Amino acid sequence: MSPKVIAIDGPSGSGKGTIAGLLARQLGWKLLDSGALYRLLAFAARNHGISLNNEEALKTLAAHLDVQFFAEDGGQRIVLEGEEVTDLIRTEQVGDGASQVAALPCVREALLQRQRDFLDEQGLVADGRDMGTVVFPRAPLKVFLTAGAEERARRRFQQLKDKGEDVTLASLLDEIRTRDERDTQRAVSPLKPAADAIVLDSTELSIEQVLERILSEVARRDITG
Ligand code: DC
Repeated sequence: MSPKVIAIDGPSGSGKGTIAGLLARQLGWKLLDSGALYRLLAFAARNHGISLNNEEALKTLAAHLDVQFFAEDGGQRIVLEGEEVTDLIRTEQVGDGASQVAALPCVREALLQRQRDFLDEQGLVADGRDMGTVVFPRAPLKVFLTAGAEERARRRFQQLKDKGEDVTLASLLDEIRTRDERDTQRAVSPLKPAADAIVLDSTELSIEQVLERILSEVARRDITG
């Protein structure tokens, strides 16, 4: 039997985090924000003074990462080593560190089982870069959500501006392009659609439209039973 998983992959800023959260809430399923694990590792490494080149130390840290996720209305709260870090791991700097540690095979290996452990009989919406290709290759529904780089930068700019952060659109576009390049070109688990994924370009679609498309696939494939 196929595992009860919906895999949502795509580049930074494609909206997959928002969509995955809404989908999980609507279906009453659990959520795996796999990017948060890479962010947490980069954040913890900085706290412990571990360089992002130190593969041995990162591997050990990844294997023992003391983290808890608490489901909250429409999202989740994350506690790392007893400290609330939900918002602290969302900065561009931590995202960049996450993209660096995510390129290391030993780190991906150390985090693999931890991601699979999120799955239980309740059902799981998993969002990331390799959910459909590597972590849950037997997922009965795989979505590859994408959007043009300019549109993704514009969305991120709006988000950060709303939070009062001082950023420029040009610098965000630069960062998105650098991260896309690193995530798609790395040797292990590069960002790419699974052969059996539905590719959805959200550049011209609203969140509601994307959600509707995915929910119609969920109903068509009868995977919630
Ligand atoms: O989705 P995000 O921006 O929170 O992810 C942060 C970084 O982690 C991103 O640059 C790529 C990496 N990542 C990954 O390699 N594999 C995943 N399944 C999720 C994220």
